[in-house]
Amino acid sequence: MDMMQQRILDSKNMAELEMVRIEFFGKKGSVTQKFNALKDLEGEEKKQVAKELNLLKATFEKMFAQKKEELENIALKEALLAEKIDVSLFSNSTKRSVGHPINYTKDRIIEYFRNLDFDLCVGPLVEDDFHNFQALNLPEYHPARDMQDTFYFKDSMLLRTHTSPVQIRTMLSQKPPIKMICPGPTFRRDYDLTHTPMFHQVEGLVVDHKDKANFANLKYTLEDFLKYLFGDVKVRFRSSFFPFTEPSAEVDISCNFCGGSGCRVCSHTGWLEVLGCGVVDSHVFESVGYEGVSGYAFGMGIERLAMLTCGVNDLRSFFETDLRVLEQF
Ligand code: DAH
Repeated sequence: MDMMQQRILDSKNMAELEMVRIEFFGKKGSVTQKFNALKDLEGEEKKQVAKELNLLKATFEKMFAQKKEELENIALKEALLAEKIDVSLFSNSTKRSVGHPINYTKDRIIEYFRNLDFDLCVGPLVEDDFHNFQALNLPEYHPARDMQDTFYFKDSMLLRTHTSPVQIRTMLSQKPPIKMICPGPTFRRDYDLTHTPMFHQVEGLVVDHKDKANFANLKYTLEDFLKYLFGDVKVRFRSSFFPFTEPSAEVDISCNFCGGSGCRVCSHTGWLEVLGCGVVDSHVFESVGYEGVSGYAFGMGIERLAMLTCGVNDLRSFFETDLRVLEQF
């Protein structure tokens, strides 16, 4: 076995192997030089030397590749051993993870309503037209459907545009009286500074015997809830329209950034809109076959509430999974 082959076999790591390659086949390597010298030879001699050199080169390449693979396998084994993590070891790290503002806000909302004995309900994210629209008094071609830029699938299935369909599902599967909230993701074709295609809402529904769940109950509950969430703020109910409630209202709180004197966050109005609500429309009760009942409902966007309570002004920072953002809370 000649020297070159021995040197390859003796290499103990990739660096040494690479040295061997440079020594023989690098730009100034001894074999390279012999290749370069071919031009000065002629005839049979040139043919003979070229043949030998090519053979040498082929041998080298084969051995080099084998040795390289062998060394790489060894390196991998060593790395795996060195980086092995014993997951059963006890950690005394004191670094605690932090809650995401959306989850934190959602949990605070749940906590309030659980204390009032509201049930926690869930519904599917992929909904059908009946639950998301029709049963909520939004028949086909109703203009209010346009407000909800819907993601559609085939066969009039869709990604729910709000958590309100869970009202319908709950009423269809339970008997009154009902007191429920439903937090969860919702979807709309919308993307800008203040909208993301996926966002979260909390729906609330109370159904009781006739006249027992009225606007006064709704007003009291929501006022108390908003004071719990925001502290000492003023609350105002503004007349509005939702197809599934009549009468309907949007609820504003006095701006908790400027105290109501007007700033950029409240567009200099002193008020921040935080939720929608109303007395359940009789068409909704009809669509689930309820008679002789009364009810109220409300819906709110968790992102908006989280932005206001945590002082976040860019909605997208909630979804960028940057730990530095989370660590601020
Ligand atoms: N579903 C409405 C939306 O997404 C929010 C809403 C308003 C829900 C009023 C309600 C309600 O239950 O009564 O904009």
